Amino acid sequence: MDELAGRVALVTGGARGLGAAAAKALAAEGAKVVVSDVADGNETAAAIGGAYVKHDVASEEQWIAAIAFAKERFGGLDILVNNAGIFWMKPIALETLEAFRRMQQVNVEGVFLGLKHAIPAIAERGAKWDGGGSIINLSSVAGIIGSPMTLAYNASKGAVRLMTKSAALECARAGQKVRVNSVHPGIIETQMMTDAAEAIAGASGVNDTMERFASFHPMGRLGRDIDIANAVAFLASSKAAFMTGSELVVDGGMTAA
Ligand SMILES: NC(=O)c1ccc[n+]([C@@H]2O[C@H](COP(=O)([O-])OP(=O)(O)OC[C@H]3O[C@@H](n4cnc5c(N)ncnc54)[C@H](O)[C@@H]3O)[C@@H](O)[C@H]2O)c1
Repeated sequence: MDELAGRVALVTGGARGLGAAAAKALAAEGAKVVVSDVADGNETAAAIGGAYVKHDVASEEQWIAAIAFAKERFGGLDILVNNAGIFWMKPIALETLEAFRRMQQVNVEGVFLGLKHAIPAIAERGAKWDGGGSIINLSSVAGIIGSPMTLAYNASKGAVRLMTKSAALECARAGQKVRVNSVHPGIIETQMMTDAAEAIAGASGVNDTMERFASFHPMGRLGRDIDIANAVAFLASSKAAFMTGSELVVDGGMTAA
């Protein structure tokens, strides 16, 4: 339980859902965790002996401040989980340019800013760890396969998948001790998905969306937050020392077919 002892992690969107579960899993392995979120993450941080910082991933200024906070509070940065993200479903004809851009601003620009500012910070002491420091980007099965009504989200998660590979190669070729990998969850039972199901019910009266979501997985169930948190903790650790630029799919078989 001390795979990550001595390491400092920053988890964006860490107040709830997959971010909170990842923060907990990293802390359980001994990491000091900064929980960052636009929403209040004090409770999540306090429960794991971490610290909360208010942080909108779309703001470059707030990225610089969040990384400075991690250094001041815990002495450095070794792990970044680019988890914050937004999701909705909409037919292309009803998607506005403004909303499309907003999705990219949070899901793509947020990850870009995280890579830009965290790579140098993590590289500073990456040589301390077997395999170096680690960045884990939350993409999705939606970064691998398309689905109807999710054009803006598909665009954003596809971008995260390839930004991960680009950053991984750049770090490796430059000899920077930072690994960069993506995680691709299937549909996981978090508020993001229950909100989507409620929106569908409100718009169309269809009330069995969560059951339909579950049926997309050959294993016959929705994913749990811990399924994803375990993958994040693995990629953060030296157990994944030879993994960079890879895409770890955690989807109950959804994309295997
Ligand atoms: N739940 C799923 O089925 C699923 C599947 C694949 C990928 N993902 C991805 O996993 C990540 C987490 O999803 P989740 O299900 O936990 O979502 P969630 O909506 O339950 O939680 C997201 C968190 O991100 C925060 N956030 C939103 N915008 C932000 C911003 N601009 N800056 C900082 N924080 C912000 C929210 O306040 C919230 O705490 C997202 O990137 C999502 O796209 C989720």
